[in-house]
Amino acid sequence: MTSTLIRARLLSFLSEPQSATDDTSYLYEEDGAVLVENGTIRAAGSYADIAGTAGSSMETIDHRPHLLLPGFIDAHAHFPQMQVIASFGAELLDWLNTYTFPAESEFGDAVHAARIAGCFLDELVRHGTTSAAVYCTVHPASADAFFAEAAKRNMCMIAGKMMMDRNAPAALTDTARTGYDETKRLIAKWHAKGRLRYAVTPRFAITSSLEQMEAAGSLMAEHPGLHMQTHLSENRAEVALARELFPDRADYAGIYERYGLLGNKSLFGHCIHLSERETDALADSGSVAVFCPTSNLFLGSGLFGYQRFRRRDKPLRIATATDIGGGTNYSMLRTMDEGYKVVALQGEKLNPLLSFWQITRGNAEALSLSGRIGTLEPGTDADLVVLNSSATPAMRLRMERAESLQEELFVLQTLGDDRAVVETFVAGKRMKSALPPV
Ligand code: GUN
Ligand code: ZN
Repeated sequence: MTSTLIRARLLSFLSEPQSATDDTSYLYEEDGAVLVENGTIRAAGSYADIAGTAGSSMETIDHRPHLLLPGFIDAHAHFPQMQVIASFGAELLDWLNTYTFPAESEFGDAVHAARIAGCFLDELVRHGTTSAAVYCTVHPASADAFFAEAAKRNMCMIAGKMMMDRNAPAALTDTARTGYDETKRLIAKWHAKGRLRYAVTPRFAITSSLEQMEAAGSLMAEHPGLHMQTHLSENRAEVALARELFPDRADYAGIYERYGLLGNKSLFGHCIHLSERETDALADSGSVAVFCPTSNLFLGSGLFGYQRFRRRDKPLRIATATDIGGGTNYSMLRTMDEGYKVVALQGEKLNPLLSFWQITRGNAEALSLSGRIGTLEPGTDADLVVLNSSATPAMRLRMERAESLQEELFVLQTLGDDRAVVETFVAGKRMKSALPPV
């Protein structure tokens, strides 16, 4: 058995913070330690308590004075879009046609797919992200490559091959039949293998025929417990086109609803222009709306109603995500900084406790994975991030005036990025420091 004791300041959330000063929502240990055994958290608490219960032969890693949290979770990203980031001047539909579809067309090549999948996972590790819900391309080879690279790193990942059979180049389409068959094969090959999970992934209603939407619904019905991920109501032209393509449905969410794709493991990227009826349908079904602030700002899509969704009578489950490569940064810190601004533009505030809850326990709950990741609770997987709040000269100077944990978190979110990530542990293994130097 391998045991490691990691000493640091600890922060782990117990529940969703109800205010900027909700001290009951988290556990904080000024001189804390996490005991990791065989990739699992055995205990977490004060150093004195934990060191007392641990044997003397184990390795100790001293990360004081840094802050140790559960690894960050990214609820929506496209690994094949690494080379699409920073594509100039387009809104969603033009951006897809001009930049994204040509880039994704190359992922039938297994060598290319493996290279980019490896780069993507290394980039997540560099930024302190240990789990993600990830879109591959339509090519089964892209999903094989992604799952294989994630398995190599023993990372907890949700992913799926896109299903898309229309309104895209030939190199990027399957059919209702092949999309179904290939998805089934991939589920059998990868779902629940180690830390991997499969998500049925119809790209969005615009690129799937009625027959394919039905096939996606059948896959979900035949495999209860799988995740489903897609896009919904991101951009006004997209909403108009989706409604044109499915004239029988009352609204965009109604299309997914018709095919049985709403549910508590369904992840809907963006959800910016939803009607009240659509919001109710998502909330009633326990579906998750995924907030992708850097993407929404970059593509000019609109402002996600984070506080509006939380405060309604029937709150909506929410996750946050980078949406690489419509999104512009791999960092969940940068993501929440932009999220703060999106909320501010709607006359509200997003407090730092809520931000850090969201990218750890909150996203784990939204992905129905909170029994395994997102906290420092004993028995869960030892996916951890170590943060240095004074990682840059600007952060160090600002930290001279920080007087509370909340303020420190806000400095990390506002000024931090991968430079603030000292170490990333995946299932108890040091991953960031093992990467080749940049
Ligand atoms: N809608 C359909 N596909 C995509 C995609 O790849 N990125 C974003 N941001 N929206 C989409
Ligand atoms: Zn997306």
